[in-house]
Amino acid sequence: MNRNPHVAVVGATGAVGIEMIKTLEKRNFPVSKLTLLASARSVGRKLKFRAQEIAVKELTKDAFAGIDIALFSAGGSISKEFAPLAAKAGCVVIDNSSAFRMDNDVPLVIPEINASDLRQHKGIIANPNCTTAVTLMALYPLHEAFNVRRIFASSYQAVSGTGAKAIDELQRQVSQVVEGKPVTKEVYPHQIAFNVLPHVDSFLPSGYTKEEMKMENEGRKIMHHPTFRASVTCVRVPVYRAHSVAVSAEFEKPVTVDAAREVLLKAPGLDVVDNPEKKEYPLPLYAAERYNCQVGRIRKDCAFDNGLCFWVVGDQLLKGAALNAVQIAEELLN
Ligand SMILES: NC(=O)c1ccc[n+]([C@@H]2O[C@H](COP(=O)([O-])OP(=O)(O)OC[C@H]3O[C@@H](n4cnc5c(N)ncnc54)[C@H](OP(=O)(O)O)[C@@H]3O)[C@@H](O)[C@H]2O)c1
Repeated sequence: MNRNPHVAVVGATGAVGIEMIKTLEKRNFPVSKLTLLASARSVGRKLKFRAQEIAVKELTKDAFAGIDIALFSAGGSISKEFAPLAAKAGCVVIDNSSAFRMDNDVPLVIPEINASDLRQHKGIIANPNCTTAVTLMALYPLHEAFNVRRIFASSYQAVSGTGAKAIDELQRQVSQVVEGKPVTKEVYPHQIAFNVLPHVDSFLPSGYTKEEMKMENEGRKIMHHPTFRASVTCVRVPVYRAHSVAVSAEFEKPVTVDAAREVLLKAPGLDVVDNPEKKEYPLPLYAAERYNCQVGRIRKDCAFDNGLCFWVVGDQLLKGAALNAVQIAEELLN
């Protein structure tokens, strides 16, 4: 790998793409050249990187010549079509979509957990689902110490998880409600302002949604834990940024709050914010734009013998997408 790679961001104008550009700059990733790719709609739009204004180019089949690393965040169908072409052109793809996450040939990586899986890559590396990534930042260190058997969880997912148009939708609907105007819907099937929707991604015959099953499927792959079980309800909430997850976890080994806290205090990429007497617990409003996820409300689960409840919050545009992707790129250079 070139130590000063030519990097491309595919989907550069999107909610994740914009964060990727910012994260590359903030973390001083040694980019020698940055190419920004999006749809024909965005051609010529300029985005700032370091002190430069870079014009967005159209994503085409031959856009990857000379590029070392491509960070993809333009949706699953674009990844399916273009990521193999990019890999064939010699570039390493770090893909944010769900297109390749469960492929045996594609490592699915959270660097704090399974960076060593990167060694097996064949040109495409997958970034995990954002809710799964935020949850595992707290669950995995506990699993290492106490062996997780299963979890029950509910998510509280920000609208930016659906992309730039969903951020506009919440803003518009809030104004419409406040101004007493009829509410218009484009992105979600129901009004999201002043509401919560127990529906993220499409429904499966089992009644769960695809998003809900990612926790078990991706969790098993990332933690190398093939019997891990997760029953999840994913909920969209009128929050702009940062996902929250309420988790009840059952472990093989006995767990105490003190022992869990000790483990979580040492976990990389995680801050313990847990002082209920002072009304201190993780909040999406304050976890937004932070690299570290936050865990709090740590308590013994009263319904499980070896159980623990916690509340974990993280900026899904960062740890659930852009930051994790840039951390993977950093690992590739190490
Ligand atoms: N949002 C999150 O928190 C999050 C977290 C993890 C993973 N992801 C995944 O990341 C991907 C992007 O999500 P997002 O939230 O950033 O969505 P978004 O805000 O809707 O952005 C989509 C991006 O894809 C580009 N695009 C769309 N159609 C294209 C085409 N035909 N050719 C080239 N580029 C095209 C768009 O370009 P134009 O502006 O030109 O249309 C835009 O840059 C999705 O796969 C999503 O599942 C998102």
